[in-house]
Amino acid sequence: MKKKVTTGIKELDKMLYDGVYEQSVTALNGASGTGKTTFGMQFIVGGIKKNEPGIIVSFEQFPEQLYRDASSFKWDFRKYEKEGKLKIVFTSPEVFQAELEKEKGLIDQYTLEIGAKRILIDPVTYFRYLAQDNGSLRITYNRLVNGIKRCGLTGFLTCELGQFYGDSGQIDEELAFVVDNIILLRYVEIESRIYTALTILKTRGSNRAKDIRRYEITPKGIEIQKIFEGREGLLTGTPRRTFAERLAKEFEL
Ligand SMILES: Nc1ncnc2c1ncn2[C@@H]1O[C@H](COP(=O)(O)OP(=O)(O)O)[C@@H](O)[C@H]1O
Ligand SMILES: [Mg+2]
Repeated sequence: MKKKVTTGIKELDKMLYDGVYEQSVTALNGASGTGKTTFGMQFIVGGIKKNEPGIIVSFEQFPEQLYRDASSFKWDFRKYEKEGKLKIVFTSPEVFQAELEKEKGLIDQYTLEIGAKRILIDPVTYFRYLAQDNGSLRITYNRLVNGIKRCGLTGFLTCELGQFYGDSGQIDEELAFVVDNIILLRYVEIESRIYTALTILKTRGSNRAKDIRRYEITPKGIEIQKIFEGREGLLTGTPRRTFAERLAKEFEL
């Protein structure tokens, strides 16, 4: 039986019935600005605090920006790197994909170098643009997930969703097939205000909370809050009041 490890976010660990399995791979899906990179960084920091070094592969951010974003949460990535607890790799999806095809590529190399236990790849969405078709995309995602597992790492992969609101059925299916856990981050509009909501869609081999929970990005990182009470249809992005809530409002109960 595999051990479970922390996601770096206490409340999320509870929702996952004590974190994620070691050597499992979790996809974090969400539109731009929902906090995917922050979730991922917090997962890496959660590991570092437990003596589990981590690797961050970033396709998107300029190095300076990532260090600056981390420092806004008081995470000193430069210090972690100096101490050999963190390795940050800024590369292109093309180079990374070529590395995946090698027997001992980048992931193997860096895992050995710092004794890594965790990896964040941010975001994997680019592989979709590189792929000729869904079949070859699935092969790339498979190689990625197998590479992570072969190295004994626990992985978080971020996946950028194009749609900000509306239907949540647009999750990358090819990715969904190969990962163990799927987390969805969403914008939700309620009474002229935008909230962010999180739900766990899949956990392979483990139970999970099925609630849709509010969360916020605070100076301390991600904070998961209560469920949205009295609302339904949250995953559509524009929830309605529940029937009971509508009745109560109508009769001012
Ligand atoms: N220190 C901080 N305190 C509060 N919010 C922050 C902080 N740093 C970043 N944010 C917020 O986090 C959001 C971006 O999160 P990010 O993880 O980059 O999202 P994504 O990767 O999904 O695009 C922005 O809306 C920004 O305002
Ligand atoms: Mg990001």
